[in-house]
Amino acid sequence: MTKMIAGYASDTATVHPCGKIAGTLEVPGDKSISHRVAMLSAISSGISRIHGFLNSADCLGTLKAMEALGATSHRSRDRDVIVHGTAGKLLEPAGALDMGNSGTGIRLLSGLLSGFGVNVTLTGDESLCSRPMRRIEGPLSQMGARIQLTGEKGTAPIQIQGGQLKAIEYDVPVASAQVKSAIMLAALFAEGTTRITEPAPTRDHTEQIFSTLELPIRVDGLSIEIDGFGAAGPKLHAREWHIPGDISSAAFWLIAAAANRRSSVTLKNVGLNPRRIAVLDVLQRMGARIKVSPIKQSSGRGEPVGDIRVSGTKLTGTVIGGEEIPNLIDEIPILAVAGALADGETVIKDARELRVKESDRIATMCANLATMGVEVDEMEDGMRIGGGARIRSGGTVDSFGDHRIAMSMAVLALFSDAPLTIRRVQCIETSYPGFWNHLKRLGGHVE
Ligand code: S3P
Repeated sequence: MTKMIAGYASDTATVHPCGKIAGTLEVPGDKSISHRVAMLSAISSGISRIHGFLNSADCLGTLKAMEALGATSHRSRDRDVIVHGTAGKLLEPAGALDMGNSGTGIRLLSGLLSGFGVNVTLTGDESLCSRPMRRIEGPLSQMGARIQLTGEKGTAPIQIQGGQLKAIEYDVPVASAQVKSAIMLAALFAEGTTRITEPAPTRDHTEQIFSTLELPIRVDGLSIEIDGFGAAGPKLHAREWHIPGDISSAAFWLIAAAANRRSSVTLKNVGLNPRRIAVLDVLQRMGARIKVSPIKQSSGRGEPVGDIRVSGTKLTGTVIGGEEIPNLIDEIPILAVAGALADGETVIKDARELRVKESDRIATMCANLATMGVEVDEMEDGMRIGGGARIRSGGTVDSFGDHRIAMSMAVLALFSDAPLTIRRVQCIETSYPGFWNHLKRLGGHVE
């Protein structure tokens, strides 16, 4: 990425120690829901209005891809995203669709496009083109899509010639909402009933959205059945969507506040999908003082939302693993920071999937924590963090081009003994535009 953040002279940020943060914020919209709603609005008939759409590089990339396929979109005066759908008819795009840094964008769109008789190539940046795509190619090929992974090691660019799908029964080998959702989207265009079984519960935004759209979906424990509409696909109608704040973005402030006795932060209108809030359970286990106030919503407004208030205390270490991992998968880098700030040891295990995220998050977090004087042991499926030591600024760390590593290190820098420069922070735009402004609003000092 070469573009600079407006107002910043270079692609680095220097964060000053401050410890205490305080204030009230509304974090940007949920990334997972924004991707899904953009795709489904684009194949609906009529004009969808999306409140709270995440205006980040990743989600704008998905909107742009849907435009290349025939939809149009614009921002209304009140900043809602308006999508003019294609009524289920997608055009063959002129060139490859560039999904940037987004695993959700490329995997879910591969599933959706498998249902259409168009010839499409999906690609992305260097990080995305190194991430595993066989996990979607396998089931989508079994359904009848012709998919070629043209990257070196089962990776993007992905060529798809979709159409004429048949239903499958598929046990997903990894706990991945992206894989599950790719198959669910393709299943809408298959002949027959597709059954998907997960190894552990993962985020269920696709299931929730299918139910909202009254699509024929049945969920029974870890199994999902979807009755396909065949090649014609479902007839979806445009509607109004309300996207809550992203708990994965809120998590940075939750931990920043939870770990300092003098801090107190309120995060408004945050999505509280039960499969996304394991970070709250872990923090409570660590002793954090958290109050969740659910917001009553009119029916049809979608997933649960609420305000989260956290006030600081001294955290204690914990063990994070097992079935809670998929429900806090994106929060693990910032939970590693919580571990570094807590008294005692924190162990993160069963999190091998972190090795194939935007960066190898086990390796990148361990390297950065060690630079900050934190005692950390890298394990194959996680890490062991010796908490409670003084955080020493290592001077400079790298984000490794990974937005969540960059933001996690910015939070850790607040607790450091000297300013920390973080290289390559532009990537934060992929999920949290406005992150630095929010840090300043809470009392942080960043150059
Ligand atoms: C996502 C699922 C998760 C998560 C990603 C978003 C989604 O990936 O890490 O940021 O929107 O479905 P996996 O399901 O592959 O673990």
